[in-house]
Amino acid sequence: MSSAPIHPPSDSAIAAAAAALRAGELIAMPTETVYGVACDATNAEAIARLYAAKGRPHFNPLIAHVPSLASAHHEGVFDRRALALAEQCWPGPLTLVLPVQRAGRVAELARAGLDSIALRVPAHPVAQALLNAFEGPVAAPSANRSGRLSPTRSVDVATELGDALTLILDGGEPRVGLESTIVAALPDAPLRILRPGAFDAPTLSAIAGEPVHEQASDDTSIVAPGQLSSHYAPNASVRLNATHAEDSEVLLGFGPDVPPGATNLSPGGDTTEAAAKLYRLLRELDATGAQTIAVMPIPNEGLGVAINDRLRRAAAPRPVEGEP
Ligand code: TXA
Ligand code: MG
Repeated sequence: MSSAPIHPPSDSAIAAAAAALRAGELIAMPTETVYGVACDATNAEAIARLYAAKGRPHFNPLIAHVPSLASAHHEGVFDRRALALAEQCWPGPLTLVLPVQRAGRVAELARAGLDSIALRVPAHPVAQALLNAFEGPVAAPSANRSGRLSPTRSVDVATELGDALTLILDGGEPRVGLESTIVAALPDAPLRILRPGAFDAPTLSAIAGEPVHEQASDDTSIVAPGQLSSHYAPNASVRLNATHAEDSEVLLGFGPDVPPGATNLSPGGDTTEAAAKLYRLLRELDATGAQTIAVMPIPNEGLGVAINDRLRRAAAPRPVEGEP
């Protein structure tokens, strides 16, 4: 099968994408975090096709994307804390895990049978235009095959999943470059970060008016059901806290001390710039065929927390093919 066409986000391309969603097909949409592979979240058959295309374990629930807080109210139950976070952070790179609304329309398969639901209102104008044109919740996991690097360019989406898609909406390279922060706001429980991202714990705690519990910095455990310990992985193995590259390695540097000619996430040492470039540079280094990518230390501040979370998972032992 040939790969799906990549469309600039014209009105007609957005209308075609919305029509494809209505027909139960899979498309790719840009967001400000990473590209998503999208389908109608109310259509269980479409969701089953999406899981199959990603090679994703069915127990791993999907995020439902909606255009606004008003539409999110139809799908999830917001307490006072969740409302404060949504009002301040949406549209933007925050996903809220909430009790599911009994009258919600998102198919049970998309929630993997849980009685909670993950909701996000993306800020990217193309995602906004598509969600408004479609007028329903859209399930959109990152547009990579399960366990691999999330795509930050439409050509990377085509490489990952092109065969399974009707079309790919191009929206340029995302502003953030790492997946959204996921926060659980569930009854009788403290607020908890399930996946670090652009909104950090101090910012979220200030907005919510109570502490938002952070993930421990050495944690590769599975808090969100889909956060498998090995995840976000290139083909090459990944070695962390490297000072230099050995013979069989290529270097992914950070900061002013990187040797000339080596790949650098941010010569100025800016974690926001590094986050935006991380997946693209990992893909480029992977394409050299090197056995190992040696990554220099990244400070655990700002978006460094989320970068280090993804790098720990990229470096974690990989499941052996054919074993559970
Ligand atoms: O930035 C993003 O969030 C991107 C863009 C495309 O929006 N999407 C994304 O989706 O990263 P995905 O499916 O790759 O990651 C969703 C994560 C998974 O780790 C999943 O386990 C978790 O959200 N999740 C979904 N529903 C959940 C729930 N009810 N409880 C806990 N975790 C949940
Ligand atoms: Mg993903």
